[in-house]
Amino acid sequence: MAAKYGSIHGPGELMGRPERQRASVLEAPGVVRIEERPVPVPGRREVLVRIASVGVCGSDVHYYRHGRIGDFVVRAPLVLGHEASGSVVELGEGATRHRVGERVCLEPGIPCGRCEQCRSGRYNLCPDVSFLATPPIDGAFTEYLVMHEDFVYAVPDQLGDDEAAMIEPLSVGVWACRKAGVAPGSRVLVTGAGPIGALAAQVARACGAARVTVSDVEPARLELALRLGADVVLDARSEAPASASVDVLIECSGVERALRSGIEALAPAGRAVLVGMGADEIRVPVAALQTRELWLTGTFRYANTYPAAIALATSGRVGFEGILGRHFALEEVESALSQGVSHDDGLKPIVVVGSAG
Ligand SMILES: NC(=O)c1ccc[n+]([C@@H]2O[C@H](COP(=O)([O-])OP(=O)(O)OC[C@H]3O[C@@H](n4cnc5c(N)ncnc54)[C@H](O)[C@@H]3O)[C@@H](O)[C@H]2O)c1
Ligand SMILES: [Zn+2]
Ligand SMILES: [Zn+2]
Repeated sequence: MAAKYGSIHGPGELMGRPERQRASVLEAPGVVRIEERPVPVPGRREVLVRIASVGVCGSDVHYYRHGRIGDFVVRAPLVLGHEASGSVVELGEGATRHRVGERVCLEPGIPCGRCEQCRSGRYNLCPDVSFLATPPIDGAFTEYLVMHEDFVYAVPDQLGDDEAAMIEPLSVGVWACRKAGVAPGSRVLVTGAGPIGALAAQVARACGAARVTVSDVEPARLELALRLGADVVLDARSEAPASASVDVLIECSGVERALRSGIEALAPAGRAVLVGMGADEIRVPVAALQTRELWLTGTFRYANTYPAAIALATSGRVGFEGILGRHFALEEVESALSQGVSHDDGLKPIVVVGSAG
C-alpha cells in the first residue's frame, strides 16, 4: 500500500505519519481478514508505535478457534496479538519518557491506576485493566498502535525485534519466580516445557536455583529445555518427580496430573505457583498441602516485571533459541494461528509486521 502522509497531530515531536494502516482482524471464529483502518492519534501521555514483531500466544490461537476464553467473548471484530515490539514514531501531548525512533517493547495491560489493587502495586489484579487482544481491546497484529507511555519500554540494540516481543511471555516467568520466592539454592520443578515453562525455567536458573527440573510429555520439548539450561528433565508419561524433593513448583502445563504430582514433589513449606490454565476445577492433594504446610497460589499475568525481563534477556541469561519459531507476514496471521505450535522450527510463531530498526 502506498503510504499517504497527512497532517501532524498534537504538539508532540513532529514526524510524518500515514493516515491508513493494515490490521489483521478476527471477524468470527476461524475467520481472519486484512482490513484498512485509520492510524490512531496518540492522546495525552500516549505514544504511537510502529509494530515490528508480534509473538503468537496460546490465547490468540484460542480466540481464533473458539471466539472466547471463559467470560471474555469476541462480540465484535478483534485484532489479536499482545506480545509486541516496535518503534516510537510519534509522541502525544505531555509524553516525555520516549523519543521518536526509540526501539521498544509493549506491556499489553493498561490498568486504571486508581483502584485499591493498582494503588497497592498489584496492578495485574486491576478489575478495569485494558489488555491488548482481550475483547473489546484491539491487539498488535496491526501496523500502528497507540499506547500509554508508561507501558512502553525502551529495548537495547542487543535485543532483536523478535526477542523484544518475547519480553511479554518472559514476564510471566519472572512473575512466577517472584511469586514462588525462587532464591539462590532453590530446588525448582517446572511442569510443562512450552514457551512459558521454558522461559520460567531459565528465570529460575538466573535467580540462582541450585537445580531446575523440567517435565513434559513431548521429548522434543524436553530436549529444548535441556539446551536452554535445565539440569534434569522428566518425561511425565513415564516418570514422576520424587516425593518431597523440591522447594518450588512452577506449573506451566495447565494439566491436573502435572499439578498433582508437582505438589507431591514439594518438600515441607514448599511453594506451588499455578501458571498453566486448564480446567476450571481440578483436584489437589490436600493431605500434602496440610501436613507439609505447602503454599499454593495462582498467577495472573505480571506486574512490574518488564525492567527485570529486559535485563535478563539483554544479558543473555535468558535465551530464545528454539522458542522463537517461524516468521509470518501480517497477511499470514491466519496461517500462524492455525499452525499453532511446531516442534521442528521453534515453539512460537512470530508475525513480522515491520522492522523497528
Ligand atoms: N497465568 C498467566 O497469567 C498465564 C500467562 C500466559 C500463559 N499462561 C498459561 O500457561 C500455560 C503454558 O503456556 P505455553 O504457551 O507454554 O503453552 P503450551 O501449551 O505450549 O505448553 C504446555 C506444555 O505442557 C506440556 N504438558 C502436557 N501434559 C503434561 C504433563 N502431564 N506434565 C508436564 N507437561 C505436560 C505440553 O506438552 C506442553 O509442552 C498455558 O496453560 C497458558 O494458558 C498463563
Ligand atoms: Zn500471551
Ligand atoms: Zn486499577
